[in-house]
Parts: sequence; C-alpha cells; structure tokens
Amino acid sequence: MIEYRNLKIALLGAGSVGSRVAELLLEHGDELASRVGAGLELVGIAVRDVDAERAVNLPRDLFTTDAESLILSADIVIELMGGIEPARSYILKSLNSGADVVTGNKALLALHGTELFEAAEQVGAQLFYEAAAGGAIPIIRPLRDSLAGDRVKRILGIVNGTTNFILDRMDVDGDTLEGALATATALGYAEADPTADIEGYDAAQKAAILARLAFHSAVPVEAVYREGITGVTAEQVERARRAGYVVKLLAICERVVDPVTGSEGIAARVHPALVSRLHPLAAVHGAKNAVFVEAEAAGDLMFYGAGAGGLETASAVLGDLVSAARRHVAGGPGVAESLTASLPVVEIGKVQTRYQITIEVVDATGVLAKIAGVFSDHDVSVETLEQSPAAAAAPGAEHITATLVIVTHRASEEALAATVASLAGNAAVATVTSVMRVEGA
Ligand code: HSE
Repeated sequence: MIEYRNLKIALLGAGSVGSRVAELLLEHGDELASRVGAGLELVGIAVRDVDAERAVNLPRDLFTTDAESLILSADIVIELMGGIEPARSYILKSLNSGADVVTGNKALLALHGTELFEAAEQVGAQLFYEAAAGGAIPIIRPLRDSLAGDRVKRILGIVNGTTNFILDRMDVDGDTLEGALATATALGYAEADPTADIEGYDAAQKAAILARLAFHSAVPVEAVYREGITGVTAEQVERARRAGYVVKLLAICERVVDPVTGSEGIAARVHPALVSRLHPLAAVHGAKNAVFVEAEAAGDLMFYGAGAGGLETASAVLGDLVSAARRHVAGGPGVAESLTASLPVVEIGKVQTRYQITIEVVDATGVLAKIAGVFSDHDVSVETLEQSPAAAAAPGAEHITATLVIVTHRASEEALAATVASLAGNAAVATVTSVMRVEGA
C-alpha cells in the first residue's frame, strides 16, 4: 500500500452540505487520496453547538467550537457555514495563513468576492467555489477553465430550484403561485421565509458570480437587475402555454455592445421570462437547475442537474477539495481570478430583449392602426400580433373589447417602458394585462 503524506482538512459548518461532505470524506478518503497523491485528513469540524442534532452520524471528537485554532492547523479549509460573518473573517484568516479555501457561500462571494479573491492572490492561495452556483452542476470550472480560451456571449440560467419548482407546477398542473409555493414549502424546497428565492435575491447572487467569471470583470451584486416571481399569475402561465412558451425565472448575463460607440459592456439581470418550449431550458422541470451558455466558438452548451441538496452539493465541494489538494501536491501559487476585461455593467434601461404584451382593446374601426402607431412612435418593431375574437359585451359594459397579444422584435427596456406607458394612457386600450420578456429565441 502506498504511504501518502497527509493534507489537513478543516471543515467549518456541519449543516445539510457540511455533514455530507464530512461523511463522504471519511467514507471515501482512501480513494480520494489515490486520486490526489496525498491523504486527506479531516482534522476537525467547527460548529456553534457540538451537541446539536445532525442528519449524519459523525465522530464526536471531530467537533469543536474553536474555529480559529482549527483554521490555523489546516492546509485546506472548507467553509460551509453560510452567511457573511464570521464566514468572511474565517476565509480571510484561512487564506492569510496560506490555506486554500473551498466555499459554497454565494451570498458572501457575490458581496465580498473581490476582497476574497485579492486576498487569495496576495498570498498565492486559491479560493474554490463550484458549489456556489448550480449546486452539483459543474459550471464554475467550465467557465473558468474549459471556456477560458473562448468568448462567452450570453448565459441563461435556471439557477434557483425553488422558483423553478413553483413555475413548473403552475405550468404542468395549472396551479396558482400561492398553491405551488405551499407545495414547495411542504416538500421542503422552499424555506419557511421564501423571500430570497421567490424575490430573486438568490438567483441575483448566482448571476453576479457567473457574470464575473464569464466576462472576466467585477460584477457587484447590486448591479444585477432583479425581479422575482411574485407577480407571475396563473393566467400568464396559461397564456404562455397556449402560445408555445413556458415561464421561467432566468438569470441572464450577457455581453452587450453599444450600437453608437461599439464599446462592450455586461448586462446582468434576473426576472421571469417566456422561453420557447423548443428551447432546451424549457425541459428543465421540478427543482432542477440548468445553465445554458452561448459562446462564440463553442456554440451552445447546457449544464443540467441538481441545484441544491446536501449530498448533491457535497459532490461539488469534494471536487473542489480534490483540486485544492492536487494543487498543494503540485506546489506553486494558486490560479488567480481573471478580471482583465473590466467591462462596465450596463443599466437595465439600455438592455435589449423581446417582449410579449397583452392588452384589452376597444373592438372598433381604426383601433389596430392606433395601437400600431404607439409602437412605431417609440421605435419598437412588432414581430407578431394576434387578436382573439371579441368576447360578447358583458351586460352594462361600455363597449366590446378584444384581446391583442403582441410580440416585439428586440427593443430596449426604456423604449418598451415608454410604449407600455403610452398604451396604458391610450383611449383605445382598456387594460394592459401583461408584459413579459421573451428570451432564448
Ligand atoms: N435556495 C436555492 C434554490 C438553493 O432554491 O435553488 C441553494 O442555492
């Protein structure tokens, strides 16, 4: 049997992911050692309460409340405690003591990524974070390494399992948002307070992380435009279904070119969108995640799998641990994050996309021409227009109305907002029923 030198591994946090990481590391340590060329010795697990009940049975003598001492004894620190502090301080302490760090802490990376990556670079250590976006899905390494020679044009990500579960229930079962959320909560997909998921904060953090990697530029999480799914109605989902679309909460990161100056920037946004049922992302059901990458040379790529779950996410963490350990064995400084492009983040008003607008109009001569005029006044080009037969006038109603569903060519958000405001104020329009972005055409 080969005798390896041991690398000392410290684990911070023993929640659903941390306890699985410890379990797998103890179970498959020999196999991982042979892949790395060094033993991986779990020297301790720092927790707040040593006696707390855990999903997995782990040796009690591994637990400690003294995270600081544990960090100082380690070659590699795995941070899975979540939250901003003390996770940030512990990671900085680990890096400054020369340890590589593996983390799945998306909120921390989205908020303090630049500080942490700089600290790692200064000491020649490396920060690994495959579990921070897309759970078990390998997406960080493909963006950082496999696509490092290409130019990414756009990323369309379903990166939040809770909202995908809810929207999928609304699509497949005709459920309401409230009903689907209640099911998600009952099945343990949604947290007791679902705000971070349903308002898009979780997806925005992941968008900031993915955009940074894809475009080699710092993308502050505050610069990511965000709309959650709370405004999505059962009627919108049903209308989308009839028109050949499915509603998905997308994290979109794209390279944009200013049409006047030709200069490049980044747009990063999270919002519900209509996706054609023919697009691969439409086949992402339940709580699954997927990241669709459009690259200049590679073309279209899709990465699919479990976006959450203790065991599944532990796979991504252990992959990072193996990478960090191999780096230790090989020696030399860690690979720094590349922020060489420094592209600016473009404000949402300048971002261009296609829209589906549903309006109730007065069914009378010349109305269609007036509506078309509103679009052309704002330089928004109509791609398709569908009118449903006028419903019989309700008793007492002033006039008969018809439903128009208009899909536009690409237009800027500001031109679209101005168009919708004009439609809402037009005497021929009874109601603007719905405005949805159309993506991935
Ligand atoms: N709350 C997240 C989701 C999982 O629903 O996808 C962790 O990122």
